[in-house]
Amino acid sequence: MVAIMSYLSQNILHSLSDDEESKAERNPTTHILKQVKDAGFAHIKPDHYCNSEINQDLIEDMKETYANLLKDPSPGKRYRAYACYDWLPNQQKFVQQNSTQYFQSKEYNYIDGGKIREFSPITNAYLNNPILKTLIEKDVELAKQTGIIDFESKFQMGLHQIRYNAKGTEPSYSSPVWLHRDDEPLVFVHLFNLSENVLGGDNLIATDPKTITHILRLNTPLETLLLTKKPYHAVTPLGSANGDNAFRDILLITFMNKN
Ligand SMILES: [Fe+2]
Repeated sequence: MVAIMSYLSQNILHSLSDDEESKAERNPTTHILKQVKDAGFAHIKPDHYCNSEINQDLIEDMKETYANLLKDPSPGKRYRAYACYDWLPNQQKFVQQNSTQYFQSKEYNYIDGGKIREFSPITNAYLNNPILKTLIEKDVELAKQTGIIDFESKFQMGLHQIRYNAKGTEPSYSSPVWLHRDDEPLVFVHLFNLSENVLGGDNLIATDPKTITHILRLNTPLETLLLTKKPYHAVTPLGSANGDNAFRDILLITFMNKN
C-alpha cells in the first residue's frame, strides 16, 4: 500500500512538473525567465524577436553596416561602434547620451578595465532600423520581468555593435579573453552574422573559473544569449578555417543601474 501511495504521489508530482515544463515551453517568455532564474543565463531563439519573413530585408540592412565599422584600438581585431542611453525614471523614457566614452572597472576587465575607451558612434540608419527598436522593446520587457533592473531608478542602456574579424592565422578575440563576469548585471548578446568559415566564436558558461558547464554557438541572425552576473562567461577566440576573412557580427545590449 505504501509502495502504491508512493508510486502515485511520485507520478502526480512528476505530472505536475511536466505541466509546468510544458507551460514554460508554450510561453517563450516564461521559458526564458525560468532559464535566467535557474542558471543565470538564457539561450533565446530568433523568433522571440522576429517571426516574419517581411523583416528579412531590414535585418540585411543592419548586417551590411558591420563592414563599415572602425577598428577598436585594443588588441583582438575587433571593429566596433557604441551608443548609450540614460533611462529617466520620472518620465519613464530613454535619452541618448552625446558621449561615446565607455568605462569598465578593473575588477571585471583585467585587460581594458580601469580606463576610458572612446568608440565611434553607431550610425543613425542602424539606430533607427525598426528591427533594432523591436530588439530594444523586447529586451526592456525581459529586463523588467527579471527584476534585475530597477525601472524606478536611473540606469544606462548600452549598445555595442561589434565585428570580430579573423584572417589568415591571426585570431580575433574578446576582452577579457577568458572566463569573466561583466560590469553590467544584464547583457543581451544578439547575433547578426556568422561567416561559414569561422573557427571558434563559441560561448562558454561556467559556474566558477574552473568549471565550464555549457558551450553553445549563436548561428542564426537574432539568436541571442542573455547573461546575468550569476555564471562566468567567455567567447572562444575566432579564427578562419580557410585563411579568408572570417567574421562574427553581434550587438550587445547592456543594462546597468547607476547610483
Ligand atoms: Fe563579457
